[in-house]
Amino acid sequence: MPIDLQTQARQKARQSRQSLKDDPHRPQYHYLPSANWLNDPNGLIQWKGAYHLFYQYNPNGPFHKTIHWGHAASHDLVHWEEWPIALTPTAGDHDQDGCWSGCAIDHDGTPTLFYTGVHPQVVCAATSADGLLTWQKHPGNPIIAGPPPEIDAEGEFRDPFVWQEPDGWYMLMGTRSATVGGAVLLYRSEDLINWEYLHLLMRGDKYQTAPYRTGSIWECPNLVKLGDRHVLIISFQDHEAQQLHHAGYYVGSYQDRYFSHTRQGLVDHGHSYYAPQVMTDAQGRRLMWGWLREERPEAIQRQVGWSGVMSLPRVLSVSDDDVLLMSPAPELAALRGKEFRSENVVIGPDAPNPLSTLRGDTLEISLDVEFQSATVFGLRL
Ligand code: FRU
Repeated sequence: MPIDLQTQARQKARQSRQSLKDDPHRPQYHYLPSANWLNDPNGLIQWKGAYHLFYQYNPNGPFHKTIHWGHAASHDLVHWEEWPIALTPTAGDHDQDGCWSGCAIDHDGTPTLFYTGVHPQVVCAATSADGLLTWQKHPGNPIIAGPPPEIDAEGEFRDPFVWQEPDGWYMLMGTRSATVGGAVLLYRSEDLINWEYLHLLMRGDKYQTAPYRTGSIWECPNLVKLGDRHVLIISFQDHEAQQLHHAGYYVGSYQDRYFSHTRQGLVDHGHSYYAPQVMTDAQGRRLMWGWLREERPEAIQRQVGWSGVMSLPRVLSVSDDDVLLMSPAPELAALRGKEFRSENVVIGPDAPNPLSTLRGDTLEISLDVEFQSATVFGLRL
């Protein structure tokens, strides 16, 4: 039975890939499902050596509706195999309108997912007894039925992020205080099923202005230890100002269930990189993936039959002055082909373009630029 499921998933993926193979805009080395809609990375975990990537997925079309958890696995962070769908909404149940974002943990050898059931937004759990292939939803779902009333979340309550401390399990939830701004809630549990709300870990200000606008809802929180620092990564959205859709971070320290920060920053410029999730792999690296949102009009996405791409994995670290640093996972160097190298080139407004002979649509560009008298430098693709 498990073999059949996997063979079916493989065959289906092969067929869709075949039908989209002539689409010149299909990414060649980023992960994306063989067709249809993808958004956030979910449930990142390394299991028996393999990296498992789950993601928000609509198998019925290239648009955000009735979200499932898609699933892919890789041994090298470069080649991914599409696995059978992990979570499907159950009619009449707490996730009947969608299995929204969440995380994965290893609970004494049992792979366990925490995800958001909708609507209303609640926390659900599921486990696997066959090595992450099929998932059984917890009979006690929802394990958290909604946000604490005192924070005025107006139902915005999603994206559980769970980790273990010596004194128990902890969970972050993305939410908001309607009149104040986005917020992150902290919960604690002894058994992963009964959760106690502790307090607001952090709250933003929806009136805060550029460059660090933090919007009216906080989604997909991650709290990650990097060296002796902690980084809180959050995806900021604003329903009132539609254009806000970006991820930001706070570097600081988390101690005795409280977080304070010394620096704030953007994870990425623009509105395309969103909802990142971080995992720790067997080498102790903190690896982060994010959803690369479409900039193409919706009509085009429907026409071509696919929407959304997963970012490349990035390795995270923190600088001495608390800046979040990221670099592509070194494994990706395996994708390199022919090299075009150019060194000691002086570029000025009237100098010839030193890259004029360079052609290709799958390029990696590595640049070191030293400024002399110029103050601005750009690269046009
Ligand atoms: C972030 C997000 C999450 C939610 C999911 C729904 O992009 O809005 O907050 O769980 O997407 O697909």
